[in-house]
Amino acid sequence: MRMNNKIAKKLKKDFPIFKNNKNLIYLDNAATSQRPKQVIKAIIDFYEKDNANVERGFYTLAERAMIKYNNAREIIASFINSSPEEIIFTKNTTESLNLLSYTLSSVISKEKDEIVLTEMEHHSNLVPWQQFAKKNKMKLKIIKIKEDFTLDMKDAEQKITNKTAILSFTSVSNVLGTINPIKKLVELGKSHGAITIVDAAQSISSIKTDVKKLDCDFLAFSSHKMLGPTGMGILYGKKEILEKMPPFNFGGGMIKKVKWGSAEWTELPEKFEAGTQNIAGAIGLGEAIRYLEKIGLKNIADLERNLTTYALKKLREIPEMNIYNPGSEKSTGIISFNLGKIHPHDVSSLLNEKGIAVRAGHCCAMPLMKKLGIPQGVTRISFSIFNTFEEIDKLTDALKKIRNKLE
Ligand SMILES: Cc1ncc(COP(=O)(O)O)c(C=O)c1O
Repeated sequence: MRMNNKIAKKLKKDFPIFKNNKNLIYLDNAATSQRPKQVIKAIIDFYEKDNANVERGFYTLAERAMIKYNNAREIIASFINSSPEEIIFTKNTTESLNLLSYTLSSVISKEKDEIVLTEMEHHSNLVPWQQFAKKNKMKLKIIKIKEDFTLDMKDAEQKITNKTAILSFTSVSNVLGTINPIKKLVELGKSHGAITIVDAAQSISSIKTDVKKLDCDFLAFSSHKMLGPTGMGILYGKKEILEKMPPFNFGGGMIKKVKWGSAEWTELPEKFEAGTQNIAGAIGLGEAIRYLEKIGLKNIADLERNLTTYALKKLREIPEMNIYNPGSEKSTGIISFNLGKIHPHDVSSLLNEKGIAVRAGHCCAMPLMKKLGIPQGVTRISFSIFNTFEEIDKLTDALKKIRNKLE
């Protein structure tokens, strides 16, 4: 406990948001993280010292911008053990998954007509596949969760079959915090010849991801959930599959040759990156990865697990508390709950009065909420490296008062 707080207090100094919001207790890190000054500085430095467009200038400034931009892609690639050409820059996880839903039909075999997802999916990994299924006359199959909020692997074994064209699943539930057996699911998908896609939005900053070891075909994540800037996302894809897929957007930057009536596409990754990219965003994400790696992902996971263990214990002491989380050993730093019949929006507004920022509502997972029998949604807390045990004490004290006031 002391270790956690010591580290958190030291790291908190890196986050200017807390200097400008003195009493803020930020527990909404799963929605978006805060940014350390190192990331903010990298972005400011780029605009102040090196700003130019990339790929198209033959002058010193443009070369400097290009070096920083390419360097960022290399940092990102090495972070997940891929090659830089397999790293496609997008806006966010949502766009990464949409890119796939727009382009994958050309690479799946015609006799396969099913897409398998899980009950834990964020809308970003459900709605694009609903559209894909309609357009391509395919069926969606959904792997169930068990009563303990973990994935039902027996159901997964039944639903993933030789008919499965695509298996797309979240590595960590943004509501339950549950860590899914990513490697086992990928193996299961591959054993049936499915394309495997991992939505790593909630795991990328605390669970070491090695795409070679994992052997997934695609992996999507967002910079803003890993201390990086907004407007920047990543799609990793295996080179041999990306090469077979058509581009997603068309225009400048993604062509080799253009005639009035036709065009040829350039190599990876630019084939999927039409138009001017978020250059500062890529550089900021590169810096965020450097920052995360300096602390160490294993250390981050440990810090968040300690906070989760403590928070679960404290929350369970509050009467009428319903918690939707499989326990700290099976989850990351995300806990959702309901306080009796009090609406999550009321809980969140009252916590806000104490300077505590949490998420409330369906958390972009309406079908999961329906399954759990809580259409009003949940109150969700989610941790980062700067959160402390005292903050959890303040949260649970405030929740007790809210319960006494409203129940
Ligand atoms: C598991 C998961 N997938 C996808 C997303 C979508 O991320 P973004 O809004 O950055 O596209 C989120 C966001 O909360 C998420 O938690």
